[in-house]
Amino acid sequence: MTVASPLEGVAWPLRTDRLSLRPATKADVEATWRFRRLESVSQWLTRAVRTLEEHRAQFEDPDWLAKTIVIERDGEVIGDLMLAVKDAWAQAEVASQAQGVHADLGWVLDPAHTGHGYATEAVQALIRICFEDLGLRRVSADCFADNEASWRLMERVGMRREVHTVRDSLHRSGAWLDGMGYALLAEEWRR
Ligand SMILES: CC(C)(COP(=O)(O)OP(=O)(O)OC[C@H]1O[C@@H](n2cnc3c(N)ncnc32)[C@H](O)[C@@H]1OP(=O)(O)O)[C@@H](O)C(=O)NCCC(=O)NCCS
Repeated sequence: MTVASPLEGVAWPLRTDRLSLRPATKADVEATWRFRRLESVSQWLTRAVRTLEEHRAQFEDPDWLAKTIVIERDGEVIGDLMLAVKDAWAQAEVASQAQGVHADLGWVLDPAHTGHGYATEAVQALIRICFEDLGLRRVSADCFADNEASWRLMERVGMRREVHTVRDSLHRSGAWLDGMGYALLAEEWRR
């Protein structure tokens, strides 16, 4: 099955100073499993896959591939990004104008490569894709408040903290945790 992907509208690979970004393919299953299998990574992710086969089933889903970008450094996959285009909320009469104008973003970096600003560099490029190549009007991302590495990354790339929710998000540990929501508008990014 082919899923139309917003990523098709971008000239790949996209190179930054130190990295190369490109849409994920089925051939990236094992490379991404190397870091997504780690508890230090999966503790913050929506789903913690337990086996390579579970990871493969998730990764090879056409909907997943359609929104996933891999981050390469010197030809090695060191992380992945999510770019999911969404409709904005709108009143019924203007709903058609709010379709496909917003992106939810996500990121995962191999812990072997954290601490060098690679996520910052990759997410800056991701935001540029959203605003320049795809013409979106807003990007946003959510995380647990305890995931300080993630919200600090959002602050480094200029995203604004819009919400801090209180014990609204259930972690698989059984704990109800605080959440953080960040966003950035195209006009803010241009400034
Ligand atoms: C969130 C995540 C991607 C952040 O990774 P990260 O390595 O902290 O982020 P960066 O790659 O931008 O690196 C920033 C760090 O490198 C340092 N750094 C070094 N050179 C740098 C440079 N050129 N530019 C920016 N930062 C640089 C920064 O000071 C910072 O270090 P600090 O945290 O000690 O202050 C990573 O922790 C991760 O994958 N976590 C697990 C998955 C996850 O939580 N995903 C999000 C779910 S909501």
